[in-house]
Amino acid sequence: MQYITLDSETDFDGWRKTARALVLHHVAPDDVTWAVRGGEADLFAPPAPSPILEVNDGTFSVSSKFIDLAKAAILHRDGERFAILYRLLFRLKDNHDLIDVATDPDVAKITAMARAVHRDEHKMHAFVRFREIGREREPHYVAWFEPEHHIVELAGPFFAKRFADMPWSILTPDLCAHWDGHALSFTPGVSKSEAPGEDRLEETWRRYYASIFNPARLKVKAMQTEMPKKYWRNLPEASIIKPLIEDAERMTGAMIANAATDPHKPQKRPEAPMKRKPATDSLETLREEAAHCRACHLYKDATQTVFGEGPKSANIMLVGEQPGDKEDLAGHPFVGPAGQMLDRALAEAGVDRKKVYVTNAVKHFKFVPRGKIRLHQKPATPEIKACRQWYEREVSAIQPDLIVAMGATAAQSVFGKITPIGKTRGRLIDLPDGRKALVTVHPSYLLRLPDPEAKVVEYQRFVADLKIAASLQRRSSRAA
Ligand code: URA
Repeated sequence: MQYITLDSETDFDGWRKTARALVLHHVAPDDVTWAVRGGEADLFAPPAPSPILEVNDGTFSVSSKFIDLAKAAILHRDGERFAILYRLLFRLKDNHDLIDVATDPDVAKITAMARAVHRDEHKMHAFVRFREIGREREPHYVAWFEPEHHIVELAGPFFAKRFADMPWSILTPDLCAHWDGHALSFTPGVSKSEAPGEDRLEETWRRYYASIFNPARLKVKAMQTEMPKKYWRNLPEASIIKPLIEDAERMTGAMIANAATDPHKPQKRPEAPMKRKPATDSLETLREEAAHCRACHLYKDATQTVFGEGPKSANIMLVGEQPGDKEDLAGHPFVGPAGQMLDRALAEAGVDRKKVYVTNAVKHFKFVPRGKIRLHQKPATPEIKACRQWYEREVSAIQPDLIVAMGATAAQSVFGKITPIGKTRGRLIDLPDGRKALVTVHPSYLLRLPDPEAKVVEYQRFVADLKIAASLQRRSSRAA
């Protein structure tokens, strides 16, 4: 029996070096016991670990897919992970293609662990809230977070980039990460009692959360999946979630009552769609997969993937460009200033936003930091192309009759090529799969117009475009 003790819970290099030597010495997986120095399993390990095996001349290689999975899975809290990874590596030596057999029990376990780790990393990006301390001298920002897995070192660089110009510490029971404006460092974990309590930033967070909360789009279950209750205790905004939910029904009623309705003539139902791909993925699966999308570099700086939202039964899909600063933080599309402009125009046109699916051509926020501000950057063609898979899969899950492209980036995604808005705007266009497309401007274009008169005129044109969608929504609801 070989007794291996790794230096830490996240000692991937140590595991990799040892596992390679063990495989080359043909040590069977059942003959290896793994422990971590100072960890629980170490208590049951023999007094001295087995001597380090010398690597003889042999060699073997594994795919980068295995290495990527292993690097993530090793951060899982399951004590068996080192052994399962070794068993898989041992089997991969003679069967390289095994890593692509998703139903193999070892591959499935490692893949699930890697996913859980990335999910936890994503939750950490979204739910860390800093509190300001030491204001009278140098301000320092401190957050308390309880990760499910050993992800602090993995997530640290994200916060270093995102909050580059403020010194911060993230305290967790496992490990603490610190940023002094220049370098990241890590110290042992601490208990929650060492984390600071309420401060003046709490109220800012609560006000911000209340401002982005849209009662018309409240789905308590989905919200709890995205923001599980276990994170609430460390979120300043948690204290207002309950009252906001309770008030949502009343506010939604008022919004519907205020929405304009147009008289309309009875119309023929749209023709039956042709050549449509059947739905293959559920929206939940897509959302989950997209949360870990690495198809372009934008995920590195963004807080999270902002996926589309709306009912599966929606027959209208609205497509924007990419999430903005507020959407990036909130994780929902069109909740910031452009979203408010959109909500107003939809209500005036008579489109019920609760019944439409709203998404973006690009699902991560692209920006350049300017001091404390993040300046929006237009997505480039490679980023639009890399993200198009999600748009296509959303279309196939929702099966909308009409797709409204708001702005040039959205039009490029909807038509699969650069499409000038001026030539296509405001009329129904046939798409190859039998659906209709409608091109209009992006609501933030209206926000940017400097001339107040032009603003009014352009806003009315935008509403007029959306009325085309409204008439389709009315026809479908009558037919339903
Ligand atoms: N602009 C967009 O295109 N999408 C959003 O979600 C917000 C602003």
